[in-house]
Amino acid sequence: MRPLTGKVRVGSLNDIDPQGSRRLNVNGLEIALFRLSDDEILAVENRCPHKGGVLSEGMVCGPVVHCPLHDWRIDLRSGEALAPDKGCIETFETEVAADGTIFLTLDGSAQSSAAGPDSHSA
Ligand code: FES
Repeated sequence: MRPLTGKVRVGSLNDIDPQGSRRLNVNGLEIALFRLSDDEILAVENRCPHKGGVLSEGMVCGPVVHCPLHDWRIDLRSGEALAPDKGCIETFETEVAADGTIFLTLDGSAQSSAAGPDSHSA
């Protein structure tokens, strides 16, 4: 299967609770979508840069997620761990259309597999 690239529809705002998250598997990479309290959607690689904690299971506080394993704080806009911790994960450009449809922009660098959504509320 060819990797998905460009602007890809990945769901609707109504699929994600406020301050909740949703997991996607796209091009062999697990991605977490987070809905902030102001309905902004941010997307990052769903893997903590420390020891691989599942960030979509963490608590969202503003534009930051707390990793459920050892409480590192990851900035969802930059993908950077907040000091004193150091590390970085991939971030993805998102867009929410007027009707609530969520789009993710992919560059196709990760290799392909099936895509499948899964939900989780933080
Ligand atoms: S794995 Fe995320 S803080 Fe340790």
